[in-house]
Amino acid sequence: MLEQLEILRKEFDTDLSAAIDKNAILNVKSQYIGKTGKMNDILGKMKDASIEVKKSVGAKSNEIKNEMSIKIDEKLAKIEADEINENLAKNWVDITLTESIKDLGLTAAGYHPVSIVQREIEDIFISMGFEILDGPHIEDEYHNFEALNIPATHPARDMQDTFWFSDMKHLLRTHTSTIQVRGMETRKPPFKFVGPGKVFRCEATDASHEIAFHQLEGMLVGENVSVANLIYFMKTLLSEIFKKDVEVRLRPGFFPFVEPGFELDIRCLNCGGKGCSVCKQSGWLELLPCGMVHPNVLKYGGIDTEKYNGFAFGLGLDRLVMMRYKIDDIRHIHSGDLRFAKQFAEF
Ligand code: DAH
Repeated sequence: MLEQLEILRKEFDTDLSAAIDKNAILNVKSQYIGKTGKMNDILGKMKDASIEVKKSVGAKSNEIKNEMSIKIDEKLAKIEADEINENLAKNWVDITLTESIKDLGLTAAGYHPVSIVQREIEDIFISMGFEILDGPHIEDEYHNFEALNIPATHPARDMQDTFWFSDMKHLLRTHTSTIQVRGMETRKPPFKFVGPGKVFRCEATDASHEIAFHQLEGMLVGENVSVANLIYFMKTLLSEIFKKDVEVRLRPGFFPFVEPGFELDIRCLNCGGKGCSVCKQSGWLELLPCGMVHPNVLKYGGIDTEKYNGFAFGLGLDRLVMMRYKIDDIRHIHSGDLRFAKQFAEF
């Protein structure tokens, strides 16, 4: 019986090497080690054999079955890998080549208008010596509120409708001011950085409000920083962004993390000041809240307030994008509608 097993082993090897595709291999598998296959046939004939014979034949047949199953798996895996490689070689497309994309009848991708404007602004700040920082979308209470001089009992927490996680400790950041805190934690003054990113508010949407939108936070800390420095930077920034003189006005504004705080408005470029849905018929757009960093915020950031002070601002990126491209509804920005996205630069 052991001899018969050896014969089957050889026959199996011959049959397997003759099998050139998946089906043929699966066929060999069922012929030899399937339920009604040849290996089980032999075992079935052992009914009357002695216990010793049963033992040794059983062990041998298990060994051979294992060997067969391994060989089958190896061959199947190789065929699959060959198939994949063959496919890749045949259908290879370099998606970084615009022309090959067009050959496939596809449209080349383009940057989202928010990315275009964000990159441009980052470049302006880089040229003024600012670092670009990032921060997490999911934040804790400390970075979003506490360290920005907004304690739990502060009514200003109601100013920002927050998406809380069920632990009521974590939240989707409501502003990029969190990046101020994270920036202070990891550097020593003097420093200046901007932090662009997505922010989230749990509120009703309309032409100028979305639950997810984009801000660009800025912070400069050093010795003897003044409101005049702040105004200079803001003016330089806006004239660089719009590549022309824009009309601005400065109003007092309240934000717990700055003192004094300002609202810098610009004349609505969508309607030229006549009034439209973007500027809520006022002719002006609140574009750049800013101010001198509150000493409490500097203290939370571990900064010596005897020696250093600074300014901060939070630029609303979506509004800039809307004015640049004359988009009349902020909801287009996150719509994911290709008809919208296709209208911007292609590369
Ligand atoms: N974090 C504020 C908001 O989202 C915007 C802001 C106001 C940022 C004043 C600042 C600032 O840095 O100085 O409403």
